[in-house]
Amino acid sequence: YEIYLNGMTGAVPRLPTDLTRLEELTERRLGPGPVGYVAGSAGNGSTAAANRAALERRRIVPRMLRDVHDRDLSVRVLGRELPAPLALAPVGVLSIMHPDAEPAAARAAAAQGVPFVLSSASSTPMEQVAEAMGDAERWFQLYWSKDREVTRSFLSRAKAAGFTALFVTLDTPLLAWRPRDLDQAYLPFLHGVGTANYFTDPAFLAGLAKPVHEDPNAAVAHFVGMFADPAKTWPDLEFLRENWDGPIVLKGVLHPDDARRAAQAGMDGVVVSNHGGRQVAGSVAAADALPRVAEAADGRLAVLFDSGIRTGDDIFKALALGADTVLVGRPYAYGLGLDGQAGVEHVIRCLLAELDLTLALSGHRTPAGPGREDLVEEGA
Ligand code: FNR
Repeated sequence: YEIYLNGMTGAVPRLPTDLTRLEELTERRLGPGPVGYVAGSAGNGSTAAANRAALERRRIVPRMLRDVHDRDLSVRVLGRELPAPLALAPVGVLSIMHPDAEPAAARAAAAQGVPFVLSSASSTPMEQVAEAMGDAERWFQLYWSKDREVTRSFLSRAKAAGFTALFVTLDTPLLAWRPRDLDQAYLPFLHGVGTANYFTDPAFLAGLAKPVHEDPNAAVAHFVGMFADPAKTWPDLEFLRENWDGPIVLKGVLHPDDARRAAQAGMDGVVVSNHGGRQVAGSVAAADALPRVAEAADGRLAVLFDSGIRTGDDIFKALALGADTVLVGRPYAYGLGLDGQAGVEHVIRCLLAELDLTLALSGHRTPAGPGREDLVEEGA
């Protein structure tokens, strides 16, 4: 109601409350290069489009007269009490969007009480991001390097900097065919030296023949060579278990058998995600994969979800399909690009206000309320 009440005095929000407009605004403000990096997806964009379509196709069937006066958005996930079922997804090299980059997004998350997942490919060293967040909840996303020493170094730095859970991204052992990046000579790599998590890491630096400033091209080549590893298999997870004593979440799980394997391997959760449609062109939509993964998880794993969340009702639908919590990527990256920390806070507040209203108007008081019986599928 804050926006309505302010509106009576003529004050309107600085950014639109329809978050789907942020991409276009950011493009106008920052130009096609930076927005191409964020908006871009694999192949002809069909996976990203399918993510949206799978959420749109499902419609909520609201229930009436169920006393929704007192509502509580809090959830318990990965052993933590969170004020709402929302976290900011890991997004690499946020300096492309705004000079204040990850610390600004992390401060916004902290101010609004939602966890921030910091990308391995962060443009700011993780210790600085942690400092910006104080005691607020933060999780670390790992790109699982070919180089064990670099992985060990990342894990011990993350632990020391107060990141409580590890998100291991499995869907990016190689970077996908992304036309908008390829057509820009891969913009993130031009910012490669800006992925400061690597370029300040002692184990990474030890692998270089010459200091970064003396041979930046060799440093970027080294980064590309050790960034990820397509030869990994399930037993390799033991290495992470041995080197990380908190919760481990596998990001990028879409098949129910992979969820079962994750549970068998002693993992704590999965993120049902197709990387926002940026990896496998022609992939199943994340929301279509969610119900079967949630069933396979069968309460043994926390089930997180991302890829396509743009509104509060999208969050409702993900909860109804079996997610415990969702992550959001592009919308907050645009919020950052348009208005720094305040822009990210705007995005979080819009999503949570709309979720709260959608729950109430549909007859639910908590995120645990919605189930599959609350949705119908158009055309099904
Ligand atoms: C990402 N994503 C991502 N994931 C990850 O595990 N590590 C990373 O460094 C990145 N980097 C990244 C950059 C950009 C520009 C985008 C848009 C996405 C994927 C991200 O965590 C998440 O899975 C998707 O963004 C979710 O989809 P939506 O919300 O963008 O539709």
